Amino acid sequence: MNLVLKTIKNRRSWRSYDDRNVPKDLIETIISAGNEAPSGGNSQSWRFVVVESETMRKKLFETAYPKWKKIYDNLMSKPETAKEAEKYGKMEDPIYYKAPIILFVLGRGAVNCSLCCENMMIAAESLGLGSCYVYFGSLIKDNQEIVHVLELDEKEEIYGPILLGYPKGKPEIPLKKEPKIKWI
Ligand SMILES: Cc1cc2nc3c(=O)[nH]c(=O)nc-3n(C[C@H](O)[C@H](O)[C@H](O)COP(=O)(O)O)c2cc1C
Repeated sequence: MNLVLKTIKNRRSWRSYDDRNVPKDLIETIISAGNEAPSGGNSQSWRFVVVESETMRKKLFETAYPKWKKIYDNLMSKPETAKEAEKYGKMEDPIYYKAPIILFVLGRGAVNCSLCCENMMIAAESLGLGSCYVYFGSLIKDNQEIVHVLELDEKEEIYGPILLGYPKGKPEIPLKKEPKIKWI
């Protein structure tokens, strides 16, 4: 298997990171890989906000947590989802997993921005970094202070955020179904 295919195959969603800071040039390299993604009409309808401040992380967590908790409680109330959800309830930070970098992709067009996100997660893997796309981490729009800091305008959506950091422990290996293919 060539290196690109290996990197795509090895990328995992990491939910545990060590304390090492991620060098700025690596973050810039990852963003640059995102920026190379295809986009309709080459619109590159995205921009990036890198959160490394502990104060901001705390505000993000406190804002997203009540929404996360509601979903978590609902999952815990059903036997078919409780077993899988339980481990998240034991985590200190079940939203941003204490990752040193929270990278927001802000923009228009879900396809464009999602392609940009995937490029960045593959780039992170190629650089020995772990990543995770965390939808729960995007539930922060009701905090006007955060909206102001992100400079989020009404036409923009939040994609990701994507967590970045040096991975700790072992990745969770999800079962991947065989692709359904119809040849014509
Ligand atoms: C749109 C989207 C939202 C996601 N949101 C979360 C999230 O909030 N928290 C989380 O831990 N993982 C989240 N993930 C990661 C998925 O759980 C993960 O991709 C999936 O379990 C497959 O694992 P893999 O990425 O290692 O292949 C999200 C992934 C996507 C694409």
